Amino acid sequence: IGKHIYHFDSVDSTNTIAKKMAAEGAFDGTVIIAEEQIGGRGRLGRSWISPKGTGIWMSIVLRPNIEPTEAAKITQITAAAVANAIRKATGCEVGIKWPNDIIIHNKKVCGILTEMGAELNSVNYIIVGIGINVNVDIKEFPEEVKKIATSIRACVGKEISRKDIVKEILLEFQKLYLDFIENKNIKKSIDICKKYSVTLGKQVKIKNRDKEIIAEAIDLTEDGQLLIKNESGEMQTVISGEVSVRGI
Ligand code: BTN
Repeated sequence: IGKHIYHFDSVDSTNTIAKKMAAEGAFDGTVIIAEEQIGGRGRLGRSWISPKGTGIWMSIVLRPNIEPTEAAKITQITAAAVANAIRKATGCEVGIKWPNDIIIHNKKVCGILTEMGAELNSVNYIIVGIGINVNVDIKEFPEEVKKIATSIRACVGKEISRKDIVKEILLEFQKLYLDFIENKNIKKSIDICKKYSVTLGKQVKIKNRDKEIIAEAIDLTEDGQLLIKNESGEMQTVISGEVSVRGI
């Protein structure tokens, strides 16, 4: 991971560039980083504010030999790697809100956008996009974003080197991703996701397409799905979805 790193000044979206490079044959582990994104993308078609020089806006091209249904595992590996990396590099006690938000004091500091290129039943490439508000001045967030987002600078009270965090992310990601590729399981990543989870044990509201379920988050399964107990007391698993945790 990170043998080939492309660093851009300003791009539309590093995920879009990564997809293009992947379609043109980029190697497994290629990393694309930008100082600024003009059209940064979030989940569910939202936009992602990516001001110049203040955050980590990066995407990794992966070519794992997996089935399309396994793509969500890559999100769990990434969440675990980023949480560990931010803790190591900054000392901030980040939590993981399943499936793909990294949070500090109940506010989002990092989002992950996993996108896939697949043909028939095999994955051609997976792009993991990681957006971290590092030195972003939270006073400059729009009002409605201020309520839900934070930055690493706000947590540690001073500017932090983005390079140190990127290095740590690539190291952590490489460890956890290779473990998955070699051992065909994501146990190590799931253990980290459980340890830092702010979701488990809480009441959650899960929006998935048009459905909304209120449930209690019980556990993560070994392949990274959320095990919930719904209002009628039945257990079920959820592969992905928009989750709000009560009080967060
Ligand atoms: C989310 O929480 O909605 C996901 C946000 C993902 C943002 C990152 S920034 C780098 C990469 N390029 C994008 O356009 N989006 C992801």
